[in-house]
Amino acid sequence: MAIRKVRVIGDEILGKVCKPVKEMTPRTRELIEDMFETMYEENGVGLAASQVGVLRQIVTIDVEDGNQYVLINPEILETSGEQTGYEGCLSVPGKTGIVTRPDHVRVRALNEEMEPYELVGEGLLARAICHECDHLKGKLYVSMVEGELKDTDAMDEEEESEE
Ligand code: NI
Repeated sequence: MAIRKVRVIGDEILGKVCKPVKEMTPRTRELIEDMFETMYEENGVGLAASQVGVLRQIVTIDVEDGNQYVLINPEILETSGEQTGYEGCLSVPGKTGIVTRPDHVRVRALNEEMEPYELVGEGLLARAICHECDHLKGKLYVSMVEGELKDTDAMDEEEESEE
């Protein structure tokens, strides 16, 4: 396992569309392990393969609900409800912005064994699924932000000044 370099905004690979995974290979398994390791190292709750420079439809998610989700070739089947809140991205370091997302998402994907499954997410998991699936289409959350992108440092100061 290894920590991979996370591509940051301005890197053209983040704007590209990822291709489906056709078969599981040792190399792809290693990529998925590395994605988890990289995500944990950077304190992220989700990562798309394009963020580590691989244009394949692979997403890793861990919103600390006791599960590690791997979504290969994910397809969002259904969304409902709405949530509005701050969102961030490991590819947009030090920034955060308000994004409205569905509050309920049903997605079909393949697991690491290339077996199809469905996952239903609500709240943060729904947000993470939408955010990561957008990455696979070359879309960053910054294009959806309501108002201004803020510095996370400034946010901390605001919170401190409120106390
Ligand atoms: Ni992101």
